[in-house]
Amino acid sequence: MINKQNMTDADYLKASLCAPVYDVACITPLDKMDKLSHRLGNQILVKREDRQPVHSFKIRGAQAMIASLTAQERKNGVVAASAGNHAQGVALSATKLGISSLIVMPLTTPDIKVEAVQNFGGEVLLYGANFDEAKTKAMELAKQQGRIFIPPFDHPLIIAGQASIAMEILQQNAGIDRIFVPVGGGGLAAGLAVVIKQIIPSIKVIGVEAKDSACLTAALAAGQPVDLNRVGLFAEGVAVKRIGDETFRLCQQYLDDVILVDSDEICAAVKDLFDDVRAVAEPSGALALAGLKKYVTQHHIRDEKLVHILSGANLNFHNLRYISERCEIGEKREALFAVTIPEQKGSFLKFCQLLGGRTVTEFSYRYHDNHKATIFVGVRISNPESEKQDILQELTASGYQVVDLSDDEMAKLHIRYMIGGKPRQPLSEQVYSFEFPESPGALLKFLQTLGTEWNISLFHYRSHGTDYGRVLAGFELADYDPKFIQHLAALGYNYHDETKNPSLNFFL
Ligand SMILES: Cc1ncc(COP(=O)(O)O)c(C=O)c1O
Repeated sequence: MINKQNMTDADYLKASLCAPVYDVACITPLDKMDKLSHRLGNQILVKREDRQPVHSFKIRGAQAMIASLTAQERKNGVVAASAGNHAQGVALSATKLGISSLIVMPLTTPDIKVEAVQNFGGEVLLYGANFDEAKTKAMELAKQQGRIFIPPFDHPLIIAGQASIAMEILQQNAGIDRIFVPVGGGGLAAGLAVVIKQIIPSIKVIGVEAKDSACLTAALAAGQPVDLNRVGLFAEGVAVKRIGDETFRLCQQYLDDVILVDSDEICAAVKDLFDDVRAVAEPSGALALAGLKKYVTQHHIRDEKLVHILSGANLNFHNLRYISERCEIGEKREALFAVTIPEQKGSFLKFCQLLGGRTVTEFSYRYHDNHKATIFVGVRISNPESEKQDILQELTASGYQVVDLSDDEMAKLHIRYMIGGKPRQPLSEQVYSFEFPESPGALLKFLQTLGTEWNISLFHYRSHGTDYGRVLAGFELADYDPKFIQHLAALGYNYHDETKNPSLNFFL
């Protein structure tokens, strides 16, 4: 089998051209996005990897590696650890080649994902509390049972398989100026870049990362792959803690630029894809488009031909509720403010009148005291550059105290749903946000795990229909309690200290 040390660029080109991906994968269309092209003043093309049999590009790499196995290795079967698109790619490729596949998935994996893998002929082993534990188990089983471990990104054959997408794009439309590619562990970006730069080096290849899982950006800053302390899970396909060694080597050498986008920008890109080509992308699948839009604006790009890769469409249907809620903000078509107004008759009306004919998208307030009330207000805007500033100025000039919360993640995720509740007497509290895998009873389990040793002073949870539940919780605590911090670390959930968030002081 090919090993990582000795692959030259030419080897990658050859491996990519010879990868037998089309036994299972298909050549996907490169569609025009007419509406967005018009809006952005560039020709925008989308590579439709949602049209693969597993609805993501991951089948390319999996097939390239599995098809390269010797007769003996095929007999022993393959094993992988994944709760996402890689799992489905491995299961389908192995089944098509008559090879047994075992996929280790964390115990918390939703049924829908387990069933998808089983439907593609994979055997599923549910093991471990998280991905790392599932991966350790998969490696162990590889040793015990002689199965070949199929990694998700950091292997030359996986990289070469993903690179088959580059050849297709060039054959479909070679006069391209830039290609935008999503980056998780970097397999797709590395493969695409190493091939494009050998054939038409003038095409710029730009990696797009989710702000809260930017492992390539962190590695570029450090000069080598490093672990991220915290990984956001919204764009699940790219929620990777550490970029691969080989993928980093190639990305560092061949990507022309990297851009970061946030969850709201991703949600807006999901909507653009739906509006233009009626595709329903998963968040990671729309990442590249979100990056393209931002890059075009930041660099004032016009009249270019720009390609982006819609890398996957495996989303939980209910995820769309959250996406639709957030895409207005991602498009910067909604501004959110905290406004303090006098607590007196008619002041609400006066405030609304001041907003004029603008559409108010959200409005929450709660009695505070006899003198003032604080309102959480959302306003639809059409010009993100100037209109928000106009509103801020108008309100301030009329004597209101206003804070712009449009970019405040915690305010958008939690505070907007839990306005009110200032304690009647001073409270010493520490506030944390948590993420935990969603499954029936998960919230109860989360609460049980938190225990009862500390008094909970605030708690907000809202099901977004996604795979991860998000909670904001306050605890009655003195400033710093090392025992409590230890307890939090031992829970095994992603958590973050929010105590100093300004929206907390406003409303709670
Ligand atoms: C839909 C989707 N997009 C992008 C990626 C990122 O790919 P890579 O890990 O090769 O960077 C993945 C990875 O699983 C994915 O599933």
